[in-house]
Amino acid sequence: MNLLCFDSEQRWIEGVASLWRDRLRLQPELKMCVPSGQTPVKVFAEMARSVAAGEVSFHHAQMFLLDEFGDLERHDAGRSENMVHRDLLRHIDLPAVQFHSFNIEADDLNKVCRDYEAAMNGAFDLTILGIGTNGHLGMNEPGSLPDKGIRRVELAESTIKAAARYVSGTTLPTWGVTNGLKQILESKEVWVLANGSGKAEIIRRTVNDAVDVNVPSSWLRNHPNCWLLLDAEAASLL
Ligand code: PGA
Repeated sequence: MNLLCFDSEQRWIEGVASLWRDRLRLQPELKMCVPSGQTPVKVFAEMARSVAAGEVSFHHAQMFLLDEFGDLERHDAGRSENMVHRDLLRHIDLPAVQFHSFNIEADDLNKVCRDYEAAMNGAFDLTILGIGTNGHLGMNEPGSLPDKGIRRVELAESTIKAAARYVSGTTLPTWGVTNGLKQILESKEVWVLANGSGKAEIIRRTVNDAVDVNVPSSWLRNHPNCWLLLDAEAASLL
């Protein structure tokens, strides 16, 4: 596990975006998995600026949504797809057919997961993640095993509460569909983005404590090409 810590949130935003631009320039058809949530919002904005300035292009890339919440209305701002659309997709040049998400309304969610995996057609080149304060990655909550794949999951109480930051309706999600730790650990490269003091303690546990089934992020210690990309506050307990 590699650590890259930036002096300020602004340097972190610019640093992560700079790395992302480099990956896309080296491999324009990069197959990546991206998270929703608050963490990537300013990084996404910097990537949108980069595309508008002609510094980089997503035109040949493939993008897969990391996870999606159940229970929410189709247009709820808290849907993962809606967040990524609002914060990134509508500002960049990725063709719509090269974005892959989960049809959470479908009756047969197993088929939705199988179709997503078929579209993946092998491991991600790059998986970008946020991290929950309980160490969850995607919606792989504490107790998730590293061989679990794409599936429907129940959310931890703290995740349900945290989702209140995103949703526009009155309903909070209690379940979702997520890439498993299997897809995350099989990804050729993994970045965990974390900013702010609220993530400092889980970053400390992820880096310093032993691999623990109750801390999903700790499985990343076994990954050969994993980077924690942190601002100063998230790194403050290391
Ligand atoms: P956040 O969520 O980026 O909104 O903090 C991260 C996560 O729960 O994985």
